[in-house]
Amino acid sequence: MKKKEIYKKYKEKINLITKFNKSYFEKSTPIVSDIEYDELKKEIINLEKEYNFLKSKKSPAETVGYKPSKNFKKALHKTPMLSLANAFSKDDLINFEKKITNFLSKKNDYKIFYSAEPKIDGISASLTYKKGNLIRGLSRGDGKEGEDITGNLNTIEDIPKTIPSRDFPEEIDIRGEVFIQNSDFEKLKDKFANPRNAASGSLRQKNPEDTKKIPLKFIAYTFGFEKGLKVDNQFDYLNKLGEWGFKTNPLNKLISGVKNLITNYVDIEKKRANLDFDIDGIVYKINDFALQKRLGNVANAPRWAIAHKFSSNKAVSEIKDIEIQIGRTGALTPVAKIKPINIGGVLVSNATLHNEDEIKRKDIRIGDTVTVERAGDVIPHILSVDFKKRKKNVQRFVFPEKCPSCGSKTIKEFNSITRKKDAVRRCSSEGYFCEKISVEKLKHFVSKEAFNIDGFGKKIVENFWKLKLIKFPQDIFKLDYNKIQKLEGWGELSVENLKYSINEKKKISLEKLIYALGIRHIGLENAKLLSKYFTSFQNFKNLSVTNKYNDLLNIDGIGETQVNSIKNFFSVPKNFEVLIELEKLLTIKKPIFEKKNGLLKDKFFLVTGKLYNLSRAEVKSLIEENSGTTVSSVTKKLNYLITGEKPTKRKVESAKALKIKIINQDEFLKMLNKTS
Ligand code: IVH
Repeated sequence: MKKKEIYKKYKEKINLITKFNKSYFEKSTPIVSDIEYDELKKEIINLEKEYNFLKSKKSPAETVGYKPSKNFKKALHKTPMLSLANAFSKDDLINFEKKITNFLSKKNDYKIFYSAEPKIDGISASLTYKKGNLIRGLSRGDGKEGEDITGNLNTIEDIPKTIPSRDFPEEIDIRGEVFIQNSDFEKLKDKFANPRNAASGSLRQKNPEDTKKIPLKFIAYTFGFEKGLKVDNQFDYLNKLGEWGFKTNPLNKLISGVKNLITNYVDIEKKRANLDFDIDGIVYKINDFALQKRLGNVANAPRWAIAHKFSSNKAVSEIKDIEIQIGRTGALTPVAKIKPINIGGVLVSNATLHNEDEIKRKDIRIGDTVTVERAGDVIPHILSVDFKKRKKNVQRFVFPEKCPSCGSKTIKEFNSITRKKDAVRRCSSEGYFCEKISVEKLKHFVSKEAFNIDGFGKKIVENFWKLKLIKFPQDIFKLDYNKIQKLEGWGELSVENLKYSINEKKKISLEKLIYALGIRHIGLENAKLLSKYFTSFQNFKNLSVTNKYNDLLNIDGIGETQVNSIKNFFSVPKNFEVLIELEKLLTIKKPIFEKKNGLLKDKFFLVTGKLYNLSRAEVKSLIEENSGTTVSSVTKKLNYLITGEKPTKRKVESAKALKIKIINQDEFLKMLNKTS
């Protein structure tokens, strides 16, 4: 069957089940028997399993019931529910520990204790208890605001409804994971693609009676807001959870040293297949709450925790061809076209080869038999070549020295930070000159996280490009709709819709715009930081005039790599032209500042010299946490110069000349009601 026909068949089934759902859930009058309904559900799920291109928001694998999310009230988390950074290797862990020791200004041999907790792959929930009673339960939602699913959480036996213990805090959000045990999932296998979907679906049922039918479990592992919690470390907290009647993971351990973390990781990975719940890694949390507090958060993840992910599923296949793809930053990525193979339920036919060096190092050639690995949502990649199976006279793969799209020379840049040549080969053209880069840039510009223009997908970008309707981002807002209406596949209505979607997005936030420009190394988080720093499009654009690139290093989270990349961006005249054109066409919204009234509000600080037991990063984060600002040079704007051991003379003298207050570490900490 052709792809189109399969999709048609699938769509028909989805429409049918939507109709059944509507009559059952909205009108409470089923129009088919349970058996017929379950049969249809099974057919849909089987189709999705067989053809991985089939996806629908209305799929029974995604939802249970009819439009569940609309049925819940939203509520804010008093303390946000954060996510975790990932580690995949020993090096990642060493790095993690090094960063922490540096931040805390400790010696290299300082022993850090971690609570190592197997990471259950389920759905997180936050349970609010007041005076020992469960009063509300929220889903994670976007981390700031969740759905009120109290009714459904109430049906879970593992969740205590009242906790009489004397030492239970007056108020606390107990957080943990809702999941289904593998043995219980066996019985639900026909209805859901995996245990996680099953848990998520049943947790968001409209009717708690439906949730009750599914054997959901809960294990607790952290907390959000609290008042009256009397423990000072994670491991004691986990023990307390047990005393209060919560289930905790029996495999949790207190460990110090990266070496021991790895031993435990290997040990648990071996046990993994025999566990009755799915785990996808191990979470390491600094045990000491006081240290956790000092470390704080970056963006939406804590500095004091990391998830060490397990590697995943592997399979053997054959390389049919090697294609070179060109990304929006000009990177040439080799992709292996492999004989399609099912890995962990997903049909894989492409595997990334990362870069030229990787092909050389692993000596990967067309025709080779290879082991392919697919880990989580990451693109599958080639692990190794089976050299015994290599046929005679197979040629080495020669990486193109010219860009396959525009013919420009391909180059490997020298990275001034690592002092090495990049592994990635790039097209050396100036972005918009190279067709492939240009098209990729435009795809990024309209993509979901950037301008998010409804109905303006990748295919349309490619099509409009070919037809010379768009070349630069600004062209999107100057489209010739009369021309489009005459194109095949376009009608009055679809053109109207497109016009509407585009016009709707003419009002855009500064952060989205910066992100949409596709500057290398400037992802969503960095774009947000930059937008907060610049506060207006004008200031951002002026960077090319003021040349104050190094000031950007003051932004927590922005490093040399990002600064160099921004510099490069402004060094291309075409990029500046695009900014000017966009400015004419768009209404750019300034960032909204959360008005925080910290102790250091409206105060500017600069540190010079070495402080005692306090790293630069921590001072900065202390200042910013309390609504202050750090700057990099002495100007009139500066309010306080904090001096440590061996301060820069020049800075102290300029501060004196400008009559700026000069304080030491203790005086600074006193401003925050702290002592060193
Ligand atoms: S702590 C601030 N502990 O992992 C720390 N999370 O990517 C964040 N998870 O959404 C939560 N086991 O669903 C924590 N022992 C554990 C966990 C755990 C699983 C999940 C949780 C969270 C995600 C973070």
